[in-house]
Amino acid sequence: MALRLGDEAPNFTADTTEGRINFHEWLGNGWGVLFSHPADYTPVCTTELGAVAKLKEKFAQRNCKVIAISVDPIDSHKGWVNDINETQNTSVNFPIIADPRREVAAAYDMIHPNADTTATVRSVFIIGPDKKIKLTLTYPASTGRNFMELLRVLDSLQLTAKFKVATPADWQDGQDCIIVTAVKDEEIPAQFPKGHRKVKPYLRYTPQPNK
Ligand code: BEZ
Repeated sequence: MALRLGDEAPNFTADTTEGRINFHEWLGNGWGVLFSHPADYTPVCTTELGAVAKLKEKFAQRNCKVIAISVDPIDSHKGWVNDINETQNTSVNFPIIADPRREVAAAYDMIHPNADTTATVRSVFIIGPDKKIKLTLTYPASTGRNFMELLRVLDSLQLTAKFKVATPADWQDGQDCIIVTAVKDEEIPAQFPKGHRKVKPYLRYTPQPNK
């Protein structure tokens, strides 16, 4: 069954390029991004893993770990990492799960049989410190993901978990936010002392509260 927002991220034990892990223990008390790859030694995946390696520090600044998964075995992953490092001018610095029995792929519904009967699609799960799923994305094998978008979503998720705001289309960290409609007009000055502007009764902006 497909996983939905708010569901607990299924736990599993698996071999990775950094050793055997229990997923929930590996996540610890922080945030996590789990993203799948159709197969090792494939061109789009090679660029994606290189991109994530270069962004790992930005995920860490957000208290977020990253972990990839592919259904190929661990020896294949290790050889592929050499190619990724060589061609993407980086050093893969996060674990890649080996899932040859497709157990994790099945738990996370990463195989979409009408797209491909054996390979996973490009799934993304952002998991919160409570181990609940906060975001899901599904891309086709032919389209590499935009990992800066995941950083943007993390900024929004972490902000909106703390303040009664939502973030508008194309929002970037530091830009004005939307005050959620549950906040009454008369409550705004106390909760958002930086000020606000009311465009419509349901559309009220405030400067980002934690900046
Ligand atoms: C790729 O990563 O390039 C890829 C993988 C599977 C199918 C198509 C492309």
